Amino acid sequence: MGEAGRLVRVRLDQGAELKDHAQLKLNHKKHLKVGLKGLEELRALAGPRGVMQRTEGLQLACSFCHQTDEAGAFMRPISYARHCGPACHPLDVDGRLPDAVAPHDKPAIVHAYLRALYLEAYEQCQALPGRRRARRPMTGNDEGSAKSSS
Ligand code: HEC
Repeated sequence: MGEAGRLVRVRLDQGAELKDHAQLKLNHKKHLKVGLKGLEELRALAGPRGVMQRTEGLQLACSFCHQTDEAGAFMRPISYARHCGPACHPLDVDGRLPDAVAPHDKPAIVHAYLRALYLEAYEQCQALPGRRRARRPMTGNDEGSAKSSS
């Protein structure tokens, strides 16, 4: 794979040209473990193709992530939305906000999402009765916020 998704054909004996431009270092051993967390849910979402039933439990198949294009000529790129996100790696950014899932997008978009998320959370905290003077949002600690606002 070349820069920015551009495919470049390189001979295996051209060592200096053989470069992995992917910014991922996937641990295959870890991902191919039988009984990996999330596989039940993934099978329910994605169907049996790509999630194999072994006697000891479920296991990801190579073909869950590695698929060919329609013509069967090239491997399709791995994608967060298709291969990483569903069931296993949601971008849940803050344990205190269980419904908040960030978009897998350019940093500027993620930044805008996070800004809006925390501004809203702050405003909701301000609107709570008896918390009008609280300065720090979501501490869950009235004593702490009372001190900081005095
Ligand atoms: C969970 C998704 C996933 C599964 C399952 C998976 N792979 Fe991968 N594989 C990746 C990703 C992502 C990369 C690229 C990132 C990297 O190089 O570390 C990769 C890279 C590779 C590469 C290197 C390709 C290159 O261009 O250098 C080979 C070979 C490979 N996988 C073979 C396999 C085989 C064989 C299996 C099954 C036994 C398998 N993979 C299962 C996600 C997966």
